[in-house]
Amino acid sequence: MRKITIAIDGYSSTGKSTLAKQLARALGYAYVDTGAMYRAVTLFAIRNGFIGNGTERLQALVQLLPKIRLKFVPNAELGFSEMYLNGENVEEEIRQMEVSNQVSRIAEIEQVRYKLVDMQKAMGKNKGIVMDGRDIGTTVFPDAELKIFMTASLQARATRRYKELLDKGENVVYDEVLENVQKRDHIDTHREFSPLKKAEDAIVFDNSDMGLKEQFERLESIARRYMEK
Ligand code: DC
Repeated sequence: MRKITIAIDGYSSTGKSTLAKQLARALGYAYVDTGAMYRAVTLFAIRNGFIGNGTERLQALVQLLPKIRLKFVPNAELGFSEMYLNGENVEEEIRQMEVSNQVSRIAEIEQVRYKLVDMQKAMGKNKGIVMDGRDIGTTVFPDAELKIFMTASLQARATRRYKELLDKGENVVYDEVLENVQKRDHIDTHREFSPLKKAEDAIVFDNSDMGLKEQFERLESIARRYMEK
């Protein structure tokens, strides 16, 4: 069986990460959650007061990009990698609402995308990788052997995200979560640099009415077929 590159793109809260992680584990592949990288840069921007003060502050952030060190560190106990920002484990903090609310603005910045896309290309150069995000099949790995584009109805995604946040003990209102998902969709699909878009050769995977087990089984069988090609 050959080693391939698997690019998984799609809308927010389609469950991409959960599925991509499971798939990577089953195939013995590396897994990279590129959203975590954009989230970590966003956390840096929030902590250092670059957000909320207009464009000038975002330009100042760009100047500091070389000082932002991102690293995925494997956690053997959990069985997956965690995101480190300048040496600090920020895995939990980058998932909070405050970061979710601002991340699309940071992901719009051309220089941020250049930096992160370069890192992502380097991580995938030996293949045998599952990478999920918004522009993996279009920009990071346009030659990936297998591209999946995940989608689900807005309501299905907002409900999933709402439950996820409640489970984490966050105090959230459903309508706010729905609005956040909708807003992110809009920014992600309308930004100037590598907007979220289905690659022409991607397989569309709509999971509005599918449980996790069924999604995983379908995806694994597609992946194994491509590995045998
Ligand atoms: O997958 P996620 O929800 O953790 O991603 C967080 C944000 O990062 C999302 O709003 C869009 C952005 N993103 C991106 O622009 N490009 C990627 N490859 C991954 C994420």
